[in-house]
Amino acid sequence: MTIAVDGPAASGKGTIARALAQHFGLSHLDTGAIYRAVALEALRAGVPLDDAGALAGLAHHLDLTLLEDPALRDPETAEAASLVSQHPGVRAALLEFQRSFATRAGGAVLDGRDIGTVILPDATAKLFVTATPEVRARRRLLELEARGHRADFDGVLALIRLRDRRDSERAAAPLVKAPDAILLDTTDLDREEAIRRAIERVSVALCNAAQGRAGRAPPPAGHFV
Ligand code: DC
Repeated sequence: MTIAVDGPAASGKGTIARALAQHFGLSHLDTGAIYRAVALEALRAGVPLDDAGALAGLAHHLDLTLLEDPALRDPETAEAASLVSQHPGVRAALLEFQRSFATRAGGAVLDGRDIGTVILPDATAKLFVTATPEVRARRRLLELEARGHRADFDGVLALIRLRDRRDSERAAAPLVKAPDAILLDTTDLDREEAIRRAIERVSVALCNAAQGRAGRAPPPAGHFV
């Protein structure tokens, strides 16, 4: 069983993916963290963020210990990850790692930008989590302040908008909702309510998938939207 959770920066997809993994007893992979790890390694090694060949090389030999590095969550790393993830060679190098994680025994939840469209197009359930840029900027600001960073709302909002544009408009695996993904807008939801709705909708989707596999009639269109 695989669950794909996609969405823009600070939409709540990571929180939701972790909660889904815990609820359904699945492993969880934050795929943004692997792009961040490549970016962090590049920043530290002085590899230019437009050197596609060198970056693909780093991605091929991904240093998994970096996934635990606190600097992964720094705004500079996030910005660099967004640039690094534009390169098709980097994406190709990370694809197999993500797919093999997903097929591990017991099933998995992966969250990112292209999970439902490229990495796991046949995922058992797909969720696309979104919220307005203003609400996402407010959440990101609180997160940054809690980690001791100084930031202002307008600056964070501008960065969120820039990353949205870059992630959505890139040629390689852009951020886009898969046609069969369930849309969850968390703009007006608090953390608990967003998690509750995600579990409810994914449960219905998993039920429908199980019934489909058993050869029963599919639910009417829009049943769980
Ligand atoms: O989810 P995040 O903010 O940690 O992701 C950091 C960057 O990595 C994001 O700007 C785009 C990229 N990314 C991607 O291209 N594909 C993914 N599946 C996950 C992240």
